[in-house]
Amino acid sequence: MTYTLTTPLYYVNDKPHLGSAYTTLACDALARFQRLKGESVVFITGCDEHGQKIQRTAEAAGLTPQAHCDAVSAQYRELWDRWQISNNRLIRTTDPRHRQIVEQFFARVEASGDIVEGRQQGWYCVACEEFKDDPHEAQDPECPTHRKPLEWRDELNLFFRLSRYQQQIEDLIARPGFIQPASRRNEVENFVRQGLRDFSISRVNLPWGIPVPGHEGHTFYVWFDALLGYITALLDEGDAPDLETALSRGWPASVHVIGKDILRFHAVYWPAMLLSAGLPLPAKVFGHGFLTREGQKMGKSLGNVLDPAELLERCGRDAVRWYLLRDIPFGDDGDFQQQRFSDLVNNDLANTIGNLLNRTSSMARRWFDNAVPPTTKALRLDHPLAQAASQARLSVLEALETLEFRTAAEATLQLAIAANGFLNDQAPWSQMKQEGTRDQVADDLYAVLEAARIVALLIAPLLPDLSTRMLEQLGQPLPDSGAAATAPSPWLQQLEWGGLPEGLELPEPSPVMARLELENPL
Ligand code: MSP
Repeated sequence: MTYTLTTPLYYVNDKPHLGSAYTTLACDALARFQRLKGESVVFITGCDEHGQKIQRTAEAAGLTPQAHCDAVSAQYRELWDRWQISNNRLIRTTDPRHRQIVEQFFARVEASGDIVEGRQQGWYCVACEEFKDDPHEAQDPECPTHRKPLEWRDELNLFFRLSRYQQQIEDLIARPGFIQPASRRNEVENFVRQGLRDFSISRVNLPWGIPVPGHEGHTFYVWFDALLGYITALLDEGDAPDLETALSRGWPASVHVIGKDILRFHAVYWPAMLLSAGLPLPAKVFGHGFLTREGQKMGKSLGNVLDPAELLERCGRDAVRWYLLRDIPFGDDGDFQQQRFSDLVNNDLANTIGNLLNRTSSMARRWFDNAVPPTTKALRLDHPLAQAASQARLSVLEALETLEFRTAAEATLQLAIAANGFLNDQAPWSQMKQEGTRDQVADDLYAVLEAARIVALLIAPLLPDLSTRMLEQLGQPLPDSGAAATAPSPWLQQLEWGGLPEGLELPEPSPVMARLELENPL
């Protein structure tokens, strides 16, 4: 079985912002976790390049839409490279193969009798690329999200007969685990309960889109085409643009990870389109929350948008990943606060985790010939740190399976805290001054080094760089969470207590995590 996971396909109307980086980083942690566990993973991200919004942005910049899309999608590619995102697909919906997949899919939906002509009247938000139901203001209505004027539309379009799927969609969203976190299910349920209405899937007079076969003058509505990007993305490099081939490469998706604002498209429209085409449904849709900054919505007009490229440049991969995944329960809204950001990074990573390894390895080197001390008692499974490690492992494996990155981070941190506490209680630096305590010190240092090794392994999906530096410092093999998985999983085996070889030479320690000193505001 392939584990297929997707980020949204990002609009290329603007350069990437922190919201896009947030989803992609979380997906990267999930993809790395699944690979480490031995799954074969297809991790899809990409760009959504059609529609009115993109067409207008390009016009305003004096570029052809294609030139504009080429430029912005290159920025996304570069950003993901610099973040070392382990995606194995990057789909652009302007890829010529995508057009053919859309055409083949549409043919199926049309053959099911689900395409009808109709008149579309309503208020449209170009920034959302969505019709808005019943705006509050009678005159000059605005989009509640974008605070931009809605535009009145009245056109003859092709409609998808969503209303036919009322019962199936109700059953689907009632399925436990389909919409995650469960707290997001209500809003979709309410929407569906009001009765599903057919929705228009084509536009007239919009050249920047994929032409609808057999319906001259119509191009596909950007969302109809974009969602299918998840399927086109499955094609391997040399594959012919064939729907069946794409599906055989990893469909259905195990999870679509998205922001809460686009839940309806993923949990209602998309499954209905797939049902109409006779295709299997994704197993899960996870809608995460929105990031604000110091309590305020991030936006260009406020001038407070955090640029993920700059953030990376100034703070490094580990710090940003740790803060976003450790501080905000995935699914809830979160607030980016600079002070808290540096506090957490410094306390958790530099002090608690970094120092643990550093000071223990220094003591082991000083007193035990630059090597891991020999042990008898530390290998026992009822050793307090063996117990703490087993508890942490259980929590991390469970939490990452359900995308609870914060729980996983906290469980890992707890193990490091337990190991630091143990070290302070045992105080080997005092014991070494006494007679006949050498064996005890050897046992204690072994146990703490072993706990640090397990911390390094458990943190690998969240912070692959820090994990690598820690394992190098322990002279340990490096699990590669970016490479294709092997079964049985070496990572799961390495997580067993007692894996650190006694007598193994320890390299000279150097700090594994630098403190974050942000003198200027970000
Ligand atoms: N193109 C569509 C998705 C099509 S998927 C087939 C789209 N693109 S987007 O670029 O506008 O948004 C991409 C994602 O970024 C969405 O999941 C959205 O929720 C997320 N975010 C946008 N702003 C955000 C924050 N401030 N915080 C967290 N995520 C945010 O929608």
